[in-house]
Amino acid sequence: MRNSEKTPNTFNHQMEELTRREFVKTSAALSGSVALGVPVLGGHLTAPHQATPLEGALVPVSLTVNGEAHAVSVDSRTSLLDLLREHFGLTGTKKGCDRGQCGTCTVLVNGRRIVSCLSFAATHVGDQITTIEGLGNERELHPMQIAFLEHDGFQCGYCTPGQICSAVAMLDEWRRGDGSALDFAPMSSHALTRDEIRERMSGNLCRCGAYVNIVAAVDAAHRERRDA
Ligand code: FES
Ligand code: FES
Repeated sequence: MRNSEKTPNTFNHQMEELTRREFVKTSAALSGSVALGVPVLGGHLTAPHQATPLEGALVPVSLTVNGEAHAVSVDSRTSLLDLLREHFGLTGTKKGCDRGQCGTCTVLVNGRRIVSCLSFAATHVGDQITTIEGLGNERELHPMQIAFLEHDGFQCGYCTPGQICSAVAMLDEWRRGDGSALDFAPMSSHALTRDEIRERMSGNLCRCGAYVNIVAAVDAAHRERRDA
């Protein structure tokens, strides 16, 4: 048989070889591109992708904080906590865990308490925000602030703005008759016991362990308002 003549078996073998070689070449190119982060389009290697900076889109946010109207453009990923502290300079609201676990960043949104670190600023268009600075001032403290002072409801004070905002909203929740994990019965027919205060304030942690005095302060503020 002459060299140029190919039997079907020889031809099939050459085709297999070709396919195997192609496969190995393509695999090597692909794995190299994955390791280097180089994209492959339509089987051809393209130039390395220029990394874009990790920037969110700017979004307009207009809201009212402590009675003052604000209109700003912020990164869409900005938390309400960062908006208050970094953009408006309202550093009374503290950042603790930044993960929704400590309650230190509690503020009031339309009268209800939320942890501001877990809430995007962009979701608060048109909302009324109240921070510790908006509850009272040096000349006229809020009754809850007075109760915390009178009952020594703090040590280092870091959790205190969140505790006070939370306590103010918690008393409103109780007056509305909102249930709690301790008792789902309508609360308006019950006395607000210290156990109930402890349960309802359980989202606000105090690293100093000033809980006994915090509960006493909240209880006193509640009784004072009830008896007024
Ligand atoms: S800082 Fe927001 S819950 Fe801890
Ligand atoms: S007073 Fe220090 S963390 Fe509560």
